[in-house]
Amino acid sequence: MTEGTPTADAATITKARARLGELSARARTVELRERFAGDPDRAERFTRSFEDVRLDASKNWIDAEVWGALLDLARASGLRARIDAMFAGDVVNPTEGRPALHVALRAPAGQVIEVEGRDVVAPVHAVLERMAAFAERVRSGEWKGHTGRRIRAVVNVGIGGSDLGPAMATQALAHYAQPDLAVRFVSNLDAADFVQNTRDLDPEETLFIICSKTFTTLETLTNARTAREWLLGSLGDEAAVARHFVAVSTNEAEVAKFGIDPENMFGFWDWVGGRYSLPSAVGLSLMLAIGPAGFRELLQGFHSMDEHFRTAPFEDNLPVWLGLLAVWYGSFLGAEAHAVLPYDHSLRRFPAYLQQLDMESNGKATALDGSRVAHPTGPIVFGEPGTNGQHAFFQLLHQGTRLVACDFIGFARSNDPVGDHHDLLVANLFAQTEALAFGKTPDEVRAEGVAEALVPHRTFAGNRPSTTILIDRLTPASLGRLIALYEHSVFVQGTIFGVNSFDQWGVELGKALATRIAPELTSPAPPTHDASTNALITHYRHHRR
Ligand code: F6P
Repeated sequence: MTEGTPTADAATITKARARLGELSARARTVELRERFAGDPDRAERFTRSFEDVRLDASKNWIDAEVWGALLDLARASGLRARIDAMFAGDVVNPTEGRPALHVALRAPAGQVIEVEGRDVVAPVHAVLERMAAFAERVRSGEWKGHTGRRIRAVVNVGIGGSDLGPAMATQALAHYAQPDLAVRFVSNLDAADFVQNTRDLDPEETLFIICSKTFTTLETLTNARTAREWLLGSLGDEAAVARHFVAVSTNEAEVAKFGIDPENMFGFWDWVGGRYSLPSAVGLSLMLAIGPAGFRELLQGFHSMDEHFRTAPFEDNLPVWLGLLAVWYGSFLGAEAHAVLPYDHSLRRFPAYLQQLDMESNGKATALDGSRVAHPTGPIVFGEPGTNGQHAFFQLLHQGTRLVACDFIGFARSNDPVGDHHDLLVANLFAQTEALAFGKTPDEVRAEGVAEALVPHRTFAGNRPSTTILIDRLTPASLGRLIALYEHSVFVQGTIFGVNSFDQWGVELGKALATRIAPELTSPAPPTHDASTNALITHYRHHRR
């Protein structure tokens, strides 16, 4: 089987899965201690690098045979053909009848990628130029608020993909941001989010970006209306909206209906999934923070990883490595959870961002052909920045009963080099991966003079797998590479799971029910749901005042 396999090959998949099943039984019995002791070259053998990104997979339950079988499974699943289809703009999201062309958002000017016979890269760059011109005007103070004051605060109002990407990246790249322009994010339907983020802002100096692909999302439109009332409550004049509101959307009609001039709208396209939309106009808030040049660097970083993913042999392909490791633990070793642990405080929202990217993409039980999947799909993703997580849930990682796949992400250089903080931080990262992998035996504990009764409590079984991603420095470009690494890893996993990683039907039912329940909360009529929900509604009616 070669990487050129045009489509998934059921018989070969079954064979590869059976082989991996056999290998997984053996993998459980070989300790990481033994794996390292038996192979002095193990660290190098299972490390791959691309540009400034080093991925060390050696502290995982893998050997050459397992790796070969995982690669066979990837090939049998038609991964090469799927990658080519995604980059070519084919309809890889059949349940919504669309391509998933986020890679076109970071393609260099001049490249041609077609959707229905039309190049999409030139329009992408046209929007980027409009965004850059607008960002320059705001950042320089040329764009004035309604009363002639310059803009000092930008508030992005959006949720899910219209919030998590720009919020995570703006925080991650705070080091590169213009210091006299605050950039905030309001997402939650709970008014506390809006109130807490605007209570110290001056409406005369505040610009709202209403960011919603569909422009129909309840949370975003509710917050947008509140923002308009907040602004007009102070400025009084409807004409102020034009100087204080811009929109990012694919839905010009709804933007106009809301009262934002389409002149002040930055568009994108239905072939951009919400959770893949940071490099589109959805990144406008980030561009306002770090400037158009920084944003372009981010796009270049994305693009370099895209090209690596598209062209590198699977044996050396970082997203393929990350994806196959996740498949190995999730589908063959029974791991339910995947911890993502960035040792950089600026990346503290990265786990939340990845939760949407991974869980909304691969949290599915229905295969592309409509059948029920036969194997576990995407994991439960969670995480916290190091070292905070160490003082919260690492106990379970070290001594709990569950297998959790862990990704540690660190940087060789800090953007905030103060004293010895960074060396201590990185020492902790390395220490955690070492402790997880090699543990501490009962004899080692005894040798420290620990009382016998405490030995079992103080023993670390070790053999807990982790992957370390070490990057030179957190820059716009390296952040682009890191995000694209995970995006494509999710795609690799989705391809092997056989699911559509680009739809999200699972979010719809709750939205529809909430629309039904909302009027019932204030209605005297009996509620119309199950006994539990009816009782909750009734209780709420009595207590809401
Ligand atoms: O939660 C579902 C979802 O559709 C996400 O996929 C999306 O990122 C989010 O809602 C926001 O959607 P929109 O950008 O259309 O407001």
